[in-house]
Amino acid sequence: MAFNARNARISGEMTMIKEKPKYGWYAGGFIVWFFLFGLIGVVLTVFNSLFNFPLNLALATIGVTLILIFLWPAIGMSLLNIILVKKVSISPRMPVLRQIEKPQILDVGCGTGRTAIAIAKELTDGGHLYGVDIYEKKAISGNALDTVKKNARIEKVEDRTSFQYGSATDIPFEDNKFDIVNISSVLHEIHGEKSQKQAMGEISRVLKPDGTLYLSEWNRFSWQTIAFAGIFCFVFNTRGYWRSLLKNYRFNITHFENLSGFGLFTAQR
Ligand SMILES: C[S@@+](CC[C@H](N)C(=O)[O-])C[C@H]1O[C@@H](n2cnc3c(N)ncnc32)[C@H](O)[C@@H]1O
Repeated sequence: MAFNARNARISGEMTMIKEKPKYGWYAGGFIVWFFLFGLIGVVLTVFNSLFNFPLNLALATIGVTLILIFLWPAIGMSLLNIILVKKVSISPRMPVLRQIEKPQILDVGCGTGRTAIAIAKELTDGGHLYGVDIYEKKAISGNALDTVKKNARIEKVEDRTSFQYGSATDIPFEDNKFDIVNISSVLHEIHGEKSQKQAMGEISRVLKPDGTLYLSEWNRFSWQTIAFAGIFCFVFNTRGYWRSLLKNYRFNITHFENLSGFGLFTAQR
């Protein structure tokens, strides 16, 4: 009995040791479909260059078009998930995190917690990070409230984080609550200028008057965005657009950093 209990405890501990956070792939579902259409393009192009079909030129043109439209972003977005996501980290670029005593932070669109948990890890002297999201599966594979909570537990920041459902356009917190609001790679997911403006209004409302906003977004015309998204770079906005969105809400941009096509704005009211 004692032997079995000991074995069970050891195997339980080993399971705990092995457990890793699952942050998922950005646009994971799209990537699968893009590879599928891209591969149809490859087949059409190769077959039409090898054999002489009646509609040869037309089919080859369709093949090349499918490659350009779908295979390019499928490969680019896979590389983004494998390489760039690990290289580009925002939390070390948030000096305010270390300047405020026990900061209250909101991460809008926290997803599976990649950025939120990295920020929470910096809160070694107190403070709390709240995360809200509508957990869209198309944005990140495995995106769910349970996933982010589990990731926080595995990364040992459960005591200083709280996650819940909530939309950027209707943030479920009172006015002037937060010292810092972070919104990272979320605004482009909120379609329509009206909804984006509504989200900015909500961020303004929950941020303390002397609070700091960190907004990071892809720049449509940076070479990195074009390299990973191809024609889908149009999903994103230009850097000037993000800048004017901030200015419209009377935010002063105090700092800007370009991180591989990803722009990080620091702003204060
Ligand atoms: C590209 S992911 C970024 C996730 C996270 N900020 C990060 O850095 O890993 C975009 C996230 O925005 C969320 N999102 C989209 N529309 C939203 C909305 N209206 N309110 C809150 N979150 C939203 C999606 O569910 C998704 O988790």
